[in-house]
Amino acid sequence: MMDHGKYLLVAAVCMTAGAWAEPVDQEELSRLVAKLDKLHQITETPHAMADSTAALCRLAFNTNIHEGTAAPAYCHVYVTADAKTPMTSGKGIYPRGAVIIKAKLKDEKTKDVILYTVMRKMEKGFDANHGDWEYSVLDGPSKRVLARGKIDSCIRCHREYAATDYVTRAYMK
Ligand code: HEC
Repeated sequence: MMDHGKYLLVAAVCMTAGAWAEPVDQEELSRLVAKLDKLHQITETPHAMADSTAALCRLAFNTNIHEGTAAPAYCHVYVTADAKTPMTSGKGIYPRGAVIIKAKLKDEKTKDVILYTVMRKMEKGFDANHGDWEYSVLDGPSKRVLARGKIDSCIRCHREYAATDYVTRAYMK
């Protein structure tokens, strides 16, 4: 569990990252999450999220950070066609342009999304030490980009998964 100070740090980092964003790319991301049915769904059933990532989502969703982690949070994971093979095999490097979307659900029973976290493979050299991924966070209902860029808090966790190109694959059977 993260402490209070860390939560604030995460929020600050996310806001800074948002400032780098270019409007054109933001719209592209919003359009993409608005059409999840056009993407390949990786999770057959909702995946019960790890506590720590659920907490991060709650923070972005602006609810009380003192309420603890009572209810488990669920998500679905979607990928663009070019990300299918590396995702299912767990081998290789995702091609430039590949996108992975984790949609945090309102609850286990619905497909209503409250928050999207996204990884998009950028050009070589974008962030060479961490697999050239761009991270972003979008609001569920409005599809608005809340943060985008080389977000430190995201990288800190995802760098543990360098062996699978920084993708956790935690929901794969
Ligand atoms: C506390 C560690 C942690 C942090 C911080 C974190 N993630 Fe993740 N991420 C995970 C885990 C664990 C999963 C697997 C699904 C789950 O259990 O939530 C995951 C899954 C994902 C996925 C699906 C692809 C994959 O790697 O499996 C995306 C996309 C994603 N995270 C984006 C982000 C973004 C964007 C941020 C920053 C706002 C972020 N993550 C911060 C741990 C983290």
